Amino acid sequence: MSNVIVVASGKGGTGKSTVCICLSVALIKQGKKVLLIDCDCGMRGLDIMLDVEQDILFDASDAVCGNCAYGEAVYKSPNNENLYLMAAPFDAENELSPSVFKQLVDTVKDNFDYVIIDSPAGIGSGFVTAASPADSALIVTNPEPTSVRGAVKVRRKLDSLGVRSIRLVINRFDKRVFKKMGYYSDLDAVIDAAQTQLIAVVPFDINISVVMQQGAAGLKTGASFAVFDRLARRLEGRRIPIAL
Ligand SMILES: Nc1ncnc2c1ncn2[C@@H]1O[C@H](COP(=O)(O)OP(=O)(O)OP(=O)(O)O)[C@@H](O)[C@H]1O
Ligand SMILES: [Mg+2]
Repeated sequence: MSNVIVVASGKGGTGKSTVCICLSVALIKQGKKVLLIDCDCGMRGLDIMLDVEQDILFDASDAVCGNCAYGEAVYKSPNNENLYLMAAPFDAENELSPSVFKQLVDTVKDNFDYVIIDSPAGIGSGFVTAASPADSALIVTNPEPTSVRGAVKVRRKLDSLGVRSIRLVINRFDKRVFKKMGYYSDLDAVIDAAQTQLIAVVPFDINISVVMQQGAAGLKTGASFAVFDRLARRLEGRRIPIAL
């Protein structure tokens, strides 16, 4: 049985798409087969980050409308064995309903160990669609009050939608900036405010950003990417300490 994980946040730009890609790369390195589904209708970006932008002929809406077979809307990452992408509709008006999207995911998920769903920001209809097939969720927040408030709102919405296993990823953490800003006394205070159990802290690292924008996911290594290896192992149930 596959694990279906939605990656969400209240505020935009917290790093959901980045976490989706880096986590997926970490999972395939551990021998898993992963389908990434971009559910950010009208604002898709995973195709650029995976360097398959030019290949995309069919997206998720084509698959459900019968314009193509489901498999024809699944694209292999050129740089990452066992990593596949289903793109979001290019136009926002082609957003899928929750029931249609859930049916799509339920049909394809058994071909993969993990299905990772990149949600649009917020708790609107696009998020509800993205969360509809999910067994579990990662909420991505930055360590600042507006982002954390958004995380709480997403948490409550996920609870109301019946998503059971919910964990927090604190992204773009820079110890020096965090101390200087002084919004929170420490990371425990962020976790308390977000009301969600922590699973990973990802450092601010410009290299992560550069690799994503270059479509070079999986081609570079480094300490920041190793955080995702630990996150992947924790998702697998391994007792791996959270490195700060
Ligand atoms: N750990 C990090 N260190 C440095 N830059 C990062 C990190 N994580 C994400 N970024 C950068 O932050 C920006 C937003 O990231 P990303 O697109 O993944 O966010 P998002 O939550 O998916 O945004 P949206 O809500 O628009 O979908 C990008 O420029 C990305 O490269
Ligand atoms: Mg995104």
